[in-house]
Amino acid sequence: MDFFDRDILDAYDDLAPLDQAFTIPASWYVNDGIAALEGANVFGRSWQMVARADQVASAGQFVTAELAGEPLLIVRGNDGQLRAFFNVCRHHAAAVATEEHGQASIFRCPYHGWSYGLDGSLKGAPEFEGVCGFDRSQNGLVPVTVDTREQFVFVNLDPEAEPLATFLGGLVQRVAPLNLGALHFFERRIYTLNCNWKVFVDNYLDGGYHVPHLHKGLNSVLDYKQYTIECEDHYCLQSSPMVTTTEDANVAATRTGDRAWYFWQYPNFMLNLYAGYMDTNLVLPDGVDHCKVIFDFYFDDVSEAAAERNRQSIAVGERVNDEDVGICEAVQRGLHSRAYGAGRLSVRREAGEHLFHRLLAADLKRIP
Ligand code: FES
Ligand SMILES: [Fe+2]
Repeated sequence: MDFFDRDILDAYDDLAPLDQAFTIPASWYVNDGIAALEGANVFGRSWQMVARADQVASAGQFVTAELAGEPLLIVRGNDGQLRAFFNVCRHHAAAVATEEHGQASIFRCPYHGWSYGLDGSLKGAPEFEGVCGFDRSQNGLVPVTVDTREQFVFVNLDPEAEPLATFLGGLVQRVAPLNLGALHFFERRIYTLNCNWKVFVDNYLDGGYHVPHLHKGLNSVLDYKQYTIECEDHYCLQSSPMVTTTEDANVAATRTGDRAWYFWQYPNFMLNLYAGYMDTNLVLPDGVDHCKVIFDFYFDDVSEAAAERNRQSIAVGERVNDEDVGICEAVQRGLHSRAYGAGRLSVRREAGEHLFHRLLAADLKRIP
């Protein structure tokens, strides 16, 4: 961290209360040094959702992922234990598992054929006789801390990390009555956006502020005036009572129930729930000007009979997301402008964004 970057960090006052606060500075959305620091202090140290539990439900099922530049492998062992490893061969560092997900009984490195068991232990190293001081038992895949909650598998690259339950805090209790277990994975869609990952998160956390302006269809089923925003621990819950409408038939048919529930868990994971419906969003940085958002859609009924309804529901979600993508990309262009430094926050609406910025600042300002 050079002095230039330190100045950038100091430009945000994370002690200011909401009614006096500014957003984090525009420079945080465009600066390579900040992006590198986020890799180390945010993504490298927080619990990150890397897989769905259904992807690694039975022995041998595995998922590969990349987190803060680290290749990872998550796999269920023959003993039923879920484990995570750096997907880096102990010989000359090739990726041992090369598929995004699959089923294996052993992982054979494609480079020189070293093989590893589902528990990460080194099983075979061809033509390695006579290598002095080489201890096979010390050359297994390097483990990563892993844990699960609801349908989600989380890892943490920091061996000293607090437990997942501590990190999730009150979110666990707040989500419990919504019975996520009754919802089943249906489809994944991945979007690439021309904006910093934090622009997408900010847009999510504006307490519905943009909904009447940007999402007219969605707005027709929400009781906007009654929209609530609760911030606690590392999460924000935005919620709104729902109203019946004839304004937009597709939205009315697929966004039902008494309330809409929008959970955000710091730094980059969201759960959006309506009756019989959930989508999750995982926001992953890709340099300062791009991000990838992974949407997983879940429904109470994923049978063939419900497929058409589910697809109609996803189409509604896609329309809302298209509206968000357009505005997020406009924001990113604006953040590059000399005309903009930082903005103020609505006290009524933007407490979630304020929480995000303060948690982020706390992580970035922590000198390792
Ligand atoms: S790098 Fe894996 S066997 Fe050589
Ligand atoms: Fe939106």
